[in-house]
Amino acid sequence: MRYTCRVSAPCTNNDEYSIIKGDEENMETGKSYTLPKLPYGYKALAPYISEEQLTLHHLKHHQAYVTGANALLEKFDKARKDNADLDMKATLKELSFHIGGYQLHKKFFENLAPSGAGGGGVPKGELAKAIDAEFGKFDRFKKEFTQAASGVEGSGWAVLTYCMNTGRLLIMQLEKHNVNVIPGYRILMAVDVWEHAYYLDYKNDRAKFIEAFWNLVNWDEVNSRFVTHVKK
Ligand SMILES: [Fe+2]
Repeated sequence: MRYTCRVSAPCTNNDEYSIIKGDEENMETGKSYTLPKLPYGYKALAPYISEEQLTLHHLKHHQAYVTGANALLEKFDKARKDNADLDMKATLKELSFHIGGYQLHKKFFENLAPSGAGGGGVPKGELAKAIDAEFGKFDRFKKEFTQAASGVEGSGWAVLTYCMNTGRLLIMQLEKHNVNVIPGYRILMAVDVWEHAYYLDYKNDRAKFIEAFWNLVNWDEVNSRFVTHVKK
């Protein structure tokens, strides 16, 4: 059974390419990207994600996508100024990789919260109703999402999305940050299953990290993304 949009306007696919472009409320205000601050301290997610793991992930890996995206934007600026040609195929692929990495890490870190202080438990509000409508019950959703995250080939993500055309929640696997992306599906929740997200804490045991992830999900944030998105 699908979730019914409780808004006066019909559901339309008005956020095409939102995965790469990002949400309007998250748009950078300047002409380049900056590393977003975490909404909690580096020790706050322990023991599920250690201080060392989180610090490395945020300050090194997330920062690397910020740096990479900005370098490519500068490359475009320079080429346009010099009226020089770029290898568009290669450059745009690289740009989508870095902007995808930037956006997905922002979503991921913001959909976590310290366990027992906003993180973990079960979904609430409209999101809980939509999950029940789509998956029958939360446990079924949790099982499917866990299987999706476990089965990502190589490096990538599992994300919960919502289709404005059908009014249905949808789970997607994203390889790397940008391969196999279906345009137009806004991300409601993300889990990073690149090894750099968990290797210090869990070595190669991705399943254990995904198990830990469920203790950190900030369901208020995910519900808020869902309600905001559906009402647009
Ligand atoms: Fe990551």
